[in-house]
Amino acid sequence: MAKFYLLFSVLCTASVVFASPVVQIRDSFITVPIARKFAAAGSRNFVEADRARALALISRGKANAAARARGLSNAAVGADPVSNQAVTYFASVGVGSPPTQYELIVDTGSSNTWIGANKSYVKTSTSVDTENAVSVSYGSGSFSGTEYLDTVTLAPGLVIENQSIGVASTANGFEPADGILGLGPVDLTEDTVANTQTVPTVTDNLFAQGAISSNVMGISFEPTTADGVTNGEIAFGGIDSSKFTGSINYAPTTSSPVASKYWGIDQSISYGSGTLKVPILLPSAGIVDTGTTLILLSPGAYALYLAVTGAIPDQTTGFLKISNANLGRLQNLNFKINGVTYVLTPNAQLWPHSLNTLIGGKEDANYLIVADIGTAFAEGIEFVNGYTFLERFYSVYDTTNRRVGFATTPFTNATTN
Ligand SMILES: *[C@@H]1O[C@H](CO)[C@@H](O)[C@H](O)[C@H]1NC(C)=O
Ligand SMILES: *[C@@H]1O[C@H](CO)[C@@H](O)[C@H](O)[C@H]1NC(C)=O
Ligand SMILES: *[C@@H]1O[C@H](CO)[C@@H](O)[C@H](O)[C@H]1NC(C)=O
Repeated sequence: MAKFYLLFSVLCTASVVFASPVVQIRDSFITVPIARKFAAAGSRNFVEADRARALALISRGKANAAARARGLSNAAVGADPVSNQAVTYFASVGVGSPPTQYELIVDTGSSNTWIGANKSYVKTSTSVDTENAVSVSYGSGSFSGTEYLDTVTLAPGLVIENQSIGVASTANGFEPADGILGLGPVDLTEDTVANTQTVPTVTDNLFAQGAISSNVMGISFEPTTADGVTNGEIAFGGIDSSKFTGSINYAPTTSSPVASKYWGIDQSISYGSGTLKVPILLPSAGIVDTGTTLILLSPGAYALYLAVTGAIPDQTTGFLKISNANLGRLQNLNFKINGVTYVLTPNAQLWPHSLNTLIGGKEDANYLIVADIGTAFAEGIEFVNGYTFLERFYSVYDTTNRRVGFATTPFTNATTN
């Protein structure tokens, strides 16, 4: 992994009409650019990394529910949402006053924000030691230390006072990051800090302190054909209408027990177009996750996708591979979410040819971005809509209204791959 920095931030305002019949919101929001970096070529198998993350998220989602029932803490049952990632986003976050900048992994799959994995905490007059122990185990990575209250600066004008943050005394598995910016739901912080039920997340506090007018986050990625490009943006407090087309369609977050721990939704998937659509996945619960590279499907849906596309698993890369002839016949993959269909075109199902060597593949081969989630049975997360979905659709994470939104973008139909 290399290190990337937040380059600049922009303050803007926009007026947006939601597709939902009830709300018309005038939003102000502040954007934070984020940089994507793939794991170093050859260092790991992308598909394996995505699967390991999915299994960890499933096991933590289940463990959380089970642990709560037994009165255990997260620390005792945690899994690994971060350190198995093949794709990582960094944001530069200031802590203290004057702030010291820390390079933090942006993670929608966990919710504690903490520093100290590499660069030491620089205490200032705003630092308050709560003397409460904090500990989060991410499976192959973990940190423990002490919880502090301090001023956190995400961007100019996006400042949180009295944010509860972890300061690691020990941390393994996060290099080269200094820690994590946790953007998942607050429930994932349950029992991670001594004497504390849940730790308000940075977005909770931005909202509570009036720095943002709604507890909403909009994420934009653009397809890239090169590695290490700053092509992402998080809008805190609203949605950036310069990044999408049409309107945002919202879906309530799922009530299905494992997926509901995360940014979970219900979705069905079909293959084809017009009246000739083949069902691939019946309505099921899964998650939207920035930390997953590919689109992961439960075993039955994956088998159907193979059958209809003629793709075959490639031993070298772990990706699905498709012949030129079958690529020519490839049809749309349709994601139906709360009655609205989002179409992944044949080109959007293709891994960018220019990144074939990054995954250890042949330059002229055709690899696909659909992979097997890796569980033998349906386990509560039946799909993961990862980065390769999110680079075609703008996504919105609305904590207040417990919903996730999507919209088309100028890149939905791009043929860049
Ligand atoms: C700071 O936050 C902590 C917990 O997050 C809370 O208990 C405390 O009341 C807050 N203090 C101020 C001054 O807002
Ligand atoms: C850790 O931080 C130091 C500066 O404190 C920096 O020089 C070094 O590159 C960082 N390590 C990694 C692996 O990024
Ligand atoms: C993508 O292309 C299809 C088929 O031409 C068209 O119906 C659809 O409106 C396009 N979507 C966007 C977001 O441009």
